[in-house]
Formats: sequence, C-alpha cells, structure tokens
Amino acid sequence: MTAFPSDFLWGAATAAYQIEGAAQEDGRTPSIWDTFSHTPGKVLGGDTGDVATDHYHRWREDVALMSELGLGSYRFSVSWPRVQPTGRGPAVQRGLDFYRALVDELLAKGIQPLLTLYHWDLPQELETAGGWPERDTAYRFAEYAALVGEALGDRVEMWTTLNEPWCSAFLGYASGVHAPGRTEPESALRAAHHLNLAHGLGAQALRTALPPRGKISVSLNAAVVRPLTESAGDVDAQRRIDALATRVFSDPMLHGSYPADLLDDTAGITDWSYVQDGDLAVIKHPIDALGINYYTPTVVSATAEGEAPRRDGHGASEHSPWVGAENVAFHQPPGDLTSMEWSVDPSGLHDLLMRFTREVPGLPLLVSENGAAYQDEPDADGAVHDPERIAYLRSHLAAVQRAIADGADVRGYFLWSLLDNFEWAYGYSKRFGAVYVDYATQKRTPKSSARWYAEVARGGRLPAEG
Ligand code: FCB
Repeated sequence: MTAFPSDFLWGAATAAYQIEGAAQEDGRTPSIWDTFSHTPGKVLGGDTGDVATDHYHRWREDVALMSELGLGSYRFSVSWPRVQPTGRGPAVQRGLDFYRALVDELLAKGIQPLLTLYHWDLPQELETAGGWPERDTAYRFAEYAALVGEALGDRVEMWTTLNEPWCSAFLGYASGVHAPGRTEPESALRAAHHLNLAHGLGAQALRTALPPRGKISVSLNAAVVRPLTESAGDVDAQRRIDALATRVFSDPMLHGSYPADLLDDTAGITDWSYVQDGDLAVIKHPIDALGINYYTPTVVSATAEGEAPRRDGHGASEHSPWVGAENVAFHQPPGDLTSMEWSVDPSGLHDLLMRFTREVPGLPLLVSENGAAYQDEPDADGAVHDPERIAYLRSHLAAVQRAIADGADVRGYFLWSLLDNFEWAYGYSKRFGAVYVDYATQKRTPKSSARWYAEVARGGRLPAEG
C-alpha cells in the first residue's frame, strides 16, 4: 500500500452534547437536545446527555488519550448554550474559557483543532421563539459565530459552520426522531433554507472575525443514493432523494441556487417564498474545504400504487423525513450490517469523494466523519477487541486512498468517534468509539481499533492485513 499524503490529517471527531455532560454547569442552559432527551419516549432507555462521558471535567485526560493515539487533529463542537445561553447577547466567559483551555491543551500536544460551531444543540430559547423554521435563527447563528470566532480565532485555524444540516432540518422538523421532534413538512423545508442561510451568514461572520489563515468549512452528510433497478421509476426515486438529502444544501452552498427539480417536487408543500432576494449569494460564500460525513449508502425504488413506504434506517417514525418524496421505498443495501443496521459499503465513500471532486474541482475535501457502531464489550482482562471496526476503518480508508489516486484532494480523515458516547435517539446503546467508555465509572479503555488507528496515523499508511 502506498502512503497517504505526508500532511494528511489523521483525526477523530466528537460533538458537544454527545460527550460533555455538565448540562447545568457554569451558566449553560438547556438546548433542544436537553428538552428532547428529557421528554419521555424520545430517546431509547430514557438516556440523556446530562453526564454523557463527562468530558467537561475529563478533557485533559481525553486530550492525553488523543496524544497517546498519535492523532494529528481533533474535531469537536462548541455547545451554543454554554457560550451564549439564550442564543442572544454577550458570551459567557466561563463557557469560552472551557474551549480556550481545551484548544490550548490540544495545541500543546501538537493536535490541530477543527471546531464545529453547530452540532445540533440549538439553545432552547431559540426553538421556543420558532427555531430553524424562523429566519431570525440564522441571524442569531451568525452572531454566535462572530462571538466564538473573535474569542478563539487566534488559536483555532479550522472552522466548520454546521454539522449535517439534513439531520437538523428533516429529522428535527419532519420525522421528529431528533430534537426538537416536530413533524411539520413545511417547517422542515423552511428549516433547511434557514440553515443554509445560517451557514452563509456564519461564514461571513467568521471571515470577518478570523485572521487570514482561518479556514472555513461545512460538514454535509451527502447521501449515496442508488436505485434498486434501472427502471425509470427507480431512477426517479433516486433523483428525488438525492435532491432532498444532498442537493438542497450542496447546490445553494456550492453553486448559489436551489435545484429546480426540488422546487417542483416540494411545490405541494411550500412555495419557498421565505427565500429572499440576495439569500443565495450569501449562502454561496466561498469555503476553504467541504466536509463529507459518510456511513452507509441508501437504496431506493418507486413504490407501487398503494404500497406502504418502507422506513429508511433513520429511526422509527410514522412521519417520513423525505417530504415531497413519500412514495419512495427504501431497501437494505447489500453488505454486512453494523449494530445501527447500516450496511458496510466503502464504495459509497469513494463515490462521494469523486462526486464532489467532479462537481467542484479544486475544492479540498475532508472526511469529517466515518466509523461504525458494534456491540463492544470488555473481555475478562478488561481489553476490548473490535476486529469488525478495524475492518470497517481499513476498507473505508482504502476507499479514501483510491479516491486520492483518482484525483480527489482529500486533506484528512476524522474517525467517528473518539469515545463511545450519547448516540442521539439511540442513547448509550450504540458504541461508535475507538475508545470504550464504562459509563458507570467513566473509565476509558482504548479498543484494539484505537491501537490500529494509532499505527495508521503514525505510519501514514495502512498496515498489512492480519
Ligand atoms: C452523524 C452525526 C454524529 C453521530 C454519527 C453516528 O450523523 O453527525 O453526531 O451521531 O452520525
């Protein structure tokens, strides 16, 4: 195996609500995820992020672990309600101090921080005022971006505005399996537009706040959608889902327009009149890199008349997240399944990297999330062996390497996740970490995949199999 580029970033990723805990400390107020997880029936087992992996208190230990694992970069998110509790007004210094200390520790250990501003934890007060379906939320986000940019821009070089706006808009406001749990198709499309606007306004605010070396990106869970057959109906189902999953965000962000087919498909739900003059130019604000989050592909077909649409692996809800494309059936793609019941198919990652390489030549790409959940358990000696995760990572890194060989400008890879953590509606039942967390004691144990990944990061190449 040839080596990865010598300056390739070997990283791991987390998100604030999934790891920090300390939900009520130092002035933090509830986010929509606090409200949602405390609502009975919303999260498996009634789990919440109140304590999570207690990273807010154990961050030094966690950075030491990253350093031991030879990570070159760490992608984390800032908790908006920790820094600006009501989503308005001045920043809380204690909140900013936490991230400042974290970043300084990372830098001291030679680990490049990649800071995501929004990984789904909207201050509850902003949701009470209407949430993402309201235009004002985008302006609030820009103000928050400026606060954090001004506070940390001297030490953080790599910035991401939003993580996976698809989940925020469509799981949050259409299927309701994520916070805030609303099931309103038009609100989901309004949310999508205001998230796009938030990205553009946030990028503008960062550009002003950051020194010239600051780099701005966004992370999309662009979907790899494959038709079940080559029939015209199935190919059309693919087109519809691609528009709703990916192009609704990537077209305005990268090209400054909404896809015409999306506007047609959703005409019965919304007239898009909330897209105001000038918005698209703002949304198209230049970015320095595009983050791709990839886990599994999607296979779709057209449903026959009267056939019930099948659910799609994004949680059980009678409400579809695919507003305007309800007559699409989802099928289990081929491949082994992870414990999320997501099929393992590294070709999807190669496809995505090549898609954006063709679509936006010259735009650097990051794999900002990739990984797998398995039912890891410590053995009698306390060691955690996770050969399936090693196989998953190996095959996906090989796909990244193929994409680089085929001309994709991929600058780094961020394993999801550094630690086992709060997996949203699945609570603590799904373990994505390279490091095992015993939630009763908060003891961290690197799994064998963490050791394997450390070897990859140190050598800059995939070790021989076996
Ligand atoms: C992504 C999220 C991340 C994590 C992984 C498994 O959609 O960005 O927080 O939950 O999935």
